[in-house]
Amino acid sequence: AETTAELIDAHLLTVQDFPSEGILFRDVTSVYANGEAFASVVDAFASHDWGQVDAVLGIEARGFGIAAAMAYARGVGMVSVRKAGKLPGELLSEDYALEYGTATLQVQPNVLPRGSRVVILDDLLATGGTLAAVVTLAERAGWAVAGIGIVIALDDLGGRAALAGHDVLELSSYP
Ligand code: PRP
Ligand code: HPA
Repeated sequence: AETTAELIDAHLLTVQDFPSEGILFRDVTSVYANGEAFASVVDAFASHDWGQVDAVLGIEARGFGIAAAMAYARGVGMVSVRKAGKLPGELLSEDYALEYGTATLQVQPNVLPRGSRVVILDDLLATGGTLAAVVTLAERAGWAVAGIGIVIALDDLGGRAALAGHDVLELSSYP
């Protein structure tokens, strides 16, 4: 049987100059579109030993599908971390820098009790700015980060350093 990393590699679409000049874009949605690859990715996250997991946080937009699937597999809730202006009610906000721009992420702190242990999932680690912002949001909400799962790590952009001290499960990596 093929490994998860082999299935990711077989189905990953790579596009030069998207969404802007000079970016070599790894399109993880093409991995999700293949049933065998998607199941292998979700099973890898769901079966990992994270210790106790009370909920899974998914980051807009390409973290949502994997977070929902892992949460269902583990029988826990899924929390959406969204771009600014999308979530109602009481919110926490964090600004962050992207490989190609800046943005703000928000979460509703009252959807989980303080002290909850959460796993954070996203499709891809580049500079780590996004995941570092979500770690900060989780900690400000009073949640303990049990670990971080990513489908693809881009090796040359320094993301791992931004997540130092956390249990990071990377299913594949590319230069
Ligand atoms: C992409 C990707 C990660 C983030 C990684 O999302 O899905 O969330 O960038 O980059 P970083 O490690 O440098 O922070 P994007 O902001 O393009 O949002 P989208 O999924 O809503 O398109
Ligand atoms: N693919 C998807 N998201 C990204 C990338 C990429 O190559 N770089 C930064 N965010």
